[in-house]
Amino acid sequence: MSDLFHDLHNLVEECRERLDQVSSFEDLEDVRVAYLGRKGALAAVLARLPELSPEMRPEAGKAANTAKNTLTTLHAKRIEELKRSQSNAFLSSFDPAMPGRAPHSGSLHPITLVMNDICTAFAGLGFDIVIGPEIETDYYNFEALNFPPEHPARDMQDTLYIGTDTLLRTHTSPLQVRTMLSKTPPVAAIAPGKVYRRDSDLTHTPMFHQIEGFLVDKNVSMADLRGVLTAFVHRVFGTDTMVRFRPSFFPFTEPSAEVDISCTMCAGKGVTAGSTCRVCKGTGWLEILGCGMIDPNVFTSAEYDPEVWTGFAFGMGLERIAMLKYGIGDLRMLFENDTRFLRQFA
Ligand code: PHE
Repeated sequence: MSDLFHDLHNLVEECRERLDQVSSFEDLEDVRVAYLGRKGALAAVLARLPELSPEMRPEAGKAANTAKNTLTTLHAKRIEELKRSQSNAFLSSFDPAMPGRAPHSGSLHPITLVMNDICTAFAGLGFDIVIGPEIETDYYNFEALNFPPEHPARDMQDTLYIGTDTLLRTHTSPLQVRTMLSKTPPVAAIAPGKVYRRDSDLTHTPMFHQIEGFLVDKNVSMADLRGVLTAFVHRVFGTDTMVRFRPSFFPFTEPSAEVDISCTMCAGKGVTAGSTCRVCKGTGWLEILGCGMIDPNVFTSAEYDPEVWTGFAFGMGLERIAMLKYGIGDLRMLFENDTRFLRQFA
């Protein structure tokens, strides 16, 4: 009989000791199951109550109840203690004075940056900024620019046709005639925007950006074109950059030229660190735009008298300018919108 009281006493002490030692909620739960569980130590003692004489039973029952309450209270107290020590450990595991991680606030895309830069450069030279539709008519995209129907020069600028006479514009040159029709000369304007071509490989994307520029006045010469473009190149790429004109062909300019600048990688030498420059492939020159004197037939489309008015026009691809200016090696980076790339321009 006294054994049972003795056992209850031992059980409580033993349990108290084990509770003192637990360091995790899993351990704590194991101890609870071992002592207070349905098959635990306390239940085992209670199962022995019938062995007692009837007069002893109420006292034993009371003692068992007290033991149970004691264990339950000890267990609850330990839960609180464990919670507190875990949150203290958490709080001391980091430095509350450490600066937070600032969210990236976004930044302008490199294409937008060069577009703004070039627009600002030409605005400073007195050029207006004009914009036009990306879905263009065959007339403004080709015919008004002296590309007759079926002319082979159209093959270089194949695009998606929306209808028989509407298409995604292949260049910003339609803005020449559109702008001239709405203004009386003299006119000087630039036209930035998206253009589309049936082209897709490592160095071409089906959509890209161009800036068109043109100037119409009396007695405009190729020297004016050269002066304006040299000022532009010096502004965007630095005054050490050399400029060269090469004869070329466009239906809407006569004569026409392509403009090269000295290579931004090797400064026109054709070699970097003893080996052939891979940016200019050893030539020392990089092509950046097409240009020329506006063809009399374009003035006729614009209802300007070709005997009176003269002018020049040029057009350049912004992706190419951005790649050369920022040293971007792969055209696709401009379209993937990987924030690790984009945030370098913030
Ligand atoms: N539109 C031409 C192109 O996309 C570039 C250009 C513009 C050439 C103006 C001459 C004058 O290739």
